[in-house]
Amino acid sequence: MSAGRAVTFAHANIALAKYWGKRDVANNVPAVPSLSVTLEGMRTSTTLELDGSLSADTFELNGTAAPTDALARTVTLLDRVRREAVRATYARVSSQNDFPTASGLASSASGFAALALAAVTAYGLDWDTARTSDLARRSSASAARSLLGGFVELGNELPSSGVLGAKQVAPPDQLDVRVLVCVTSEGQKAIGSTDGMGRTATKSPYYAAWVERAPEMFGELKAALLAKDLERVGELTEASALAMHASAFAAGVVYVTGATLEAMTRVRELRASGLAAWATMDAGPHVKVLVSRTDSAAVKAAMERVPGVLRVLEAKPGAGAGVIEGGK
Ligand code: PMV
Repeated sequence: MSAGRAVTFAHANIALAKYWGKRDVANNVPAVPSLSVTLEGMRTSTTLELDGSLSADTFELNGTAAPTDALARTVTLLDRVRREAVRATYARVSSQNDFPTASGLASSASGFAALALAAVTAYGLDWDTARTSDLARRSSASAARSLLGGFVELGNELPSSGVLGAKQVAPPDQLDVRVLVCVTSEGQKAIGSTDGMGRTATKSPYYAAWVERAPEMFGELKAALLAKDLERVGELTEASALAMHASAFAAGVVYVTGATLEAMTRVRELRASGLAAWATMDAGPHVKVLVSRTDSAAVKAAMERVPGVLRVLEAKPGAGAGVIEGGK
């Protein structure tokens, strides 16, 4: 039996080939495969302690009690772990993000990755990374990818084993790149990703086209990454985001704002002027720019001047999740 306490960390990731839509809602299996880069420096740290005196799980996020929906999602993950560990004890969970939470900056990815690893460790389950990643995927599919470092893929089929975890495609130094996160709003995202995907699947006339084309884009992007072809990776990254947002847009699921469009336009202008920069957006108004390391400073300075861009965070490809305390 474990010591019942674990401290873990995980980093955010940004999808280059996007996941959007669910093949199997109950098991949270993506409709399309995705490929992301894990980012150093955008980190969630989680402490989880089992406590026999608790009558329910508790969850503190950045020093205050977490919102009810975040607590409910945490309890769902912990219930899965308790069933596997055959151990009923409740847990006290506390998480800290070193980047703004709930502003569409992928905090759910690093959050559920750190939580899954902490829960598996503290409840004493002897699981490999694939199984821990599968656990994180059931809470947030993008979180499955944050267990691994560098460039990471997540498939869209549940194997007969029932375990669908993410896998590393290439190490962090495969491409000499940076990601510039251009923050355009400090608020919560308007439509959560699960809701946005559901609405896109039921209402968008272009959802079927997205589901058909996305696996090809994923395959082409993976091949370009393995060939270290940054130009092609960049083109496909921007194309994947535009196709995802176009399908959502047609269902009235609109994440972009004026500032998003200004930032995207600027990235295109910078590219036309010879800089290696490509834009991508997730379920929020921020623009993330994939940029070559050598062009990063010039692109960052230009993006900071775009009207509506509040600040720009620079991140580089980084490591997967890890255990700081607890475990074997
Ligand atoms: O894992 P979720 O439910 O937060 O969905 C993530 C969806 C996108 O961020 C838009 C795309 C992706 O692949 O990360």
